[in-house]
Amino acid sequence: MKKTIRDFDLKNKRVLIRVDFNVPLDKSLKVTDDNRIRASLPTIQYALDKGAKVILMSHLGRPDGKPVSSMSLSPAAGRLSELLGERVLQCSDAVGTRVKEELGQLNGGVRVALLENLRFTADEEKNDATFAKQLAENGEIYINDAFGSSHRAHASIEAITKYLPSGAGFLLEKEIQYLGEAMQNPKKPFVAILGGSKVSDKIGVVDNLIDKVDKILIGGAMAYTFLKVQGVEIGGSKYEKDKTDLARAILDKAKAKGVEILLPVDHLVVQKVEESAATRIEGPGIPQGWFGVDIGPKTVELFKRTLDTAKTVVWNGPMGIFEMKPFATGSREVTAKLAELAGRATTVIGGGDTAACVIGFGLDGKMSHISTGGGASLEYLEGRVLPGIAALQEK
Ligand code: ADP
Ligand code: 3PG
Ligand code: MG
Repeated sequence: MKKTIRDFDLKNKRVLIRVDFNVPLDKSLKVTDDNRIRASLPTIQYALDKGAKVILMSHLGRPDGKPVSSMSLSPAAGRLSELLGERVLQCSDAVGTRVKEELGQLNGGVRVALLENLRFTADEEKNDATFAKQLAENGEIYINDAFGSSHRAHASIEAITKYLPSGAGFLLEKEIQYLGEAMQNPKKPFVAILGGSKVSDKIGVVDNLIDKVDKILIGGAMAYTFLKVQGVEIGGSKYEKDKTDLARAILDKAKAKGVEILLPVDHLVVQKVEESAATRIEGPGIPQGWFGVDIGPKTVELFKRTLDTAKTVVWNGPMGIFEMKPFATGSREVTAKLAELAGRATTVIGGGDTAACVIGFGLDGKMSHISTGGGASLEYLEGRVLPGIAALQEK
């Protein structure tokens, strides 16, 4: 068992909390989805209630080791300040004498500070020991609440634990609890729904899930690589050529293990991927010159029927290009079906776009758990040990 924030006496201590404030910003640098910020509030509030000074740190985007003003964390600091209802000091950097001076304000009335984007130096992603030590000098206790970043062995996640007493925050704890339960003692039937676009990122999860689940429903662009392997025409639909061997191996493995993989039997297709494009339903194949942008109505029915008796459902990856309203039906129907299962089944949603999808349909409250992790939730579901969790102190 790893230590958690509850295991420390926080009174008058400087608590350094790694959060994942890697949130989307619009052109005017406004935070467009503050879920990751909200998700960190219980830990921050707890530390404040216990009389601690809170120093937060995060990355935002991929600035590649140099300062990029559009990737400053100050919009996140602004949003956090609104949510907490108190001032949040935005530091000019993550380490150094100037930051030390700025953090001096924590001795006055200010209780919360946010360091500047950790990835403004390459040392963060290099898991550099000196940088980690400098970061550690900003606090007395280290708490990791950045589940979404815990698959990264970076200085603020991994190396820093060598220099401070360390433990998990409430968000990290909750993520591990829900994702862990889903994977370790799932109530059966256990159904996984996979979709989205990144076959190469996710094919490992499919492989691991075969050992755990009863059925796998595949939609989104991910389906086309599998359909292609089965010799089904997919027209111009997105698929990954160099993953066809792996897809074939997965289909074989599933067959050998008696795990049913259900692929779309029909599709919403267009000739041009535009919201205004004329649509048609085609299936099981897609003619030349047409692109699959959503699962079709028969597939929706098939997937809903399959989900009806499920006791555990893990969903990662939208069923279509849900950002365009005419292509969102499949994802909306699957979301509605999972909402209907509330109270009857455990439903776990992972992946940034899938979460955005469920939240966008206003049904997030009906899900058992929506992970704040994208890559992290996937790696966790794959059964990998996340370096950020492994590095924390044992009880
Ligand atoms: P998540 O962020 O939940 O892990 P992904 O990033 O893998 O999910 O996939 C989400 C993306 O997949 C969305 O941007 C969506 O438009 C895209 N997508 C879904 N279905 C299709 C499709 N049929 N063709 C192209 N892109 C698709
Ligand atoms: C995420 O958004 O998944 C995390 O913040 C990690 O970001 P990264 O993929 O750039 O490491
Ligand atoms: Mg995504």
